[in-house]
Amino acid sequence: MSIPSSFIDRLITSVNIVDIIGRRLQIERRGGAHWAKCPFHGGGDERSASFKIYDDTGTYHCFGCKESGNAIHFLRKHDGLDFMEAIELLASYVGMEVPQQEKPVDVSGAININTKAAEVFIEQLKSPSGKPIIDYLKSRGISGETAKFFELGYSMERNPSLHSILSPKYEKQDLEDSGLFGSNDNGEMYDRFRDRLMFPIRNIKGEHIAFGGRLTKDKKDQAKYLNSPETKTYKKKYELYGLYEARLVDKRPETLFLVEGYMDVIGLHQHGIKNSVASSGTAFTQEQLRKILSYTNNIYIVFDGDEAGQKASWRAVENALPLLREDIRMNFIFLKEGDDPDSYIKEKGKEAFIKLADEATSFSDYFLQTVKKQDDLSSIEGSFYGCSICNSFS
Ligand code: UTP
Ligand code: MN
Repeated sequence: MSIPSSFIDRLITSVNIVDIIGRRLQIERRGGAHWAKCPFHGGGDERSASFKIYDDTGTYHCFGCKESGNAIHFLRKHDGLDFMEAIELLASYVGMEVPQQEKPVDVSGAININTKAAEVFIEQLKSPSGKPIIDYLKSRGISGETAKFFELGYSMERNPSLHSILSPKYEKQDLEDSGLFGSNDNGEMYDRFRDRLMFPIRNIKGEHIAFGGRLTKDKKDQAKYLNSPETKTYKKKYELYGLYEARLVDKRPETLFLVEGYMDVIGLHQHGIKNSVASSGTAFTQEQLRKILSYTNNIYIVFDGDEAGQKASWRAVENALPLLREDIRMNFIFLKEGDDPDSYIKEKGKEAFIKLADEATSFSDYFLQTVKKQDDLSSIEGSFYGCSICNSFS
């Protein structure tokens, strides 16, 4: 671990500690100073704020429990990050590049392989056998420009296999760690993704860490989407598809739409809504919500109006409860059964979608409506009773 201390100093002076803490705690202004209720003692619910944030020195101090430090200490303790994760998160806020360092777990091989694979899939999309996939994208209204922006590709059905292209150039262990290959009983590796439209998943730094792959025609016994497995570089519960891309358009997005699928993010982008993200390969998690909240205070959750969408929305409420603050606005958009954000915007256009956002249901309305619908609780079943705050209403 050898990040130059000069870099850390520069990082600490570039970030705004009031902003960073303000995205996580409710800040009170008293006599020109910033205060919050200390999250580190008394369970975060002390009656008066004893946690002071010093804008000028980039530090904080709690007069109750004496906890103090800078933005790195705060993120490590509050967000539960390790040192490197805290540095990387801070650097991403201010657009600084963390200098190359030795990492305790070397994941560069797996990232290089995923990066190279994205290039191979793009080439295969452009090759003659990619033609039907380009036609498929066109039929869904996706332009070449959008496909390029999201680095969409194609994994060919037959030769050359990705494995045959990459295996001469990379270590076997790294190939295994990349998540791109499975292996049979004889230990031979094979391509996980075959004949699929490929969606590269990039982390917040833009590194290629995983893929989603969609069939473009029905195939018996094969799921519509296949995703990379959990690997050293791809921790599904933390990653959001489209976050890196949304920040390419706007480093500090005012609002983020949370949607269900890859194609929702891409379809919205195609029609001018360039600030949506999707949970990738998992149900929406609290870690993902925490990540979104560290970039914006305004979230719109857009799920289907069907029962699965309702359940997913309620799960979002449960995830959000421990993280909510007064300055966070979280709204819900419910689409008609059978619609998703992609199909909606394709049919009705950007203005109609923005209108939906303007008319969205606020967190508190959704919460109270759901609580009032006691009769209907069977539709959201156990998840409701598992929610401690809800129980206090009954
Ligand atoms: P959807 O079935 O709603 O697909 O799954 P979609 O995103 O609308 O895609 P299109 O419009 O049919 O192309 C939503 C998300 O759930 C995951 C994928 O991340 C997908 O984007 N999923 C879905 C899977 O992981 N596996 C599946 O078999 C299906
Ligand atoms: Mn869809």
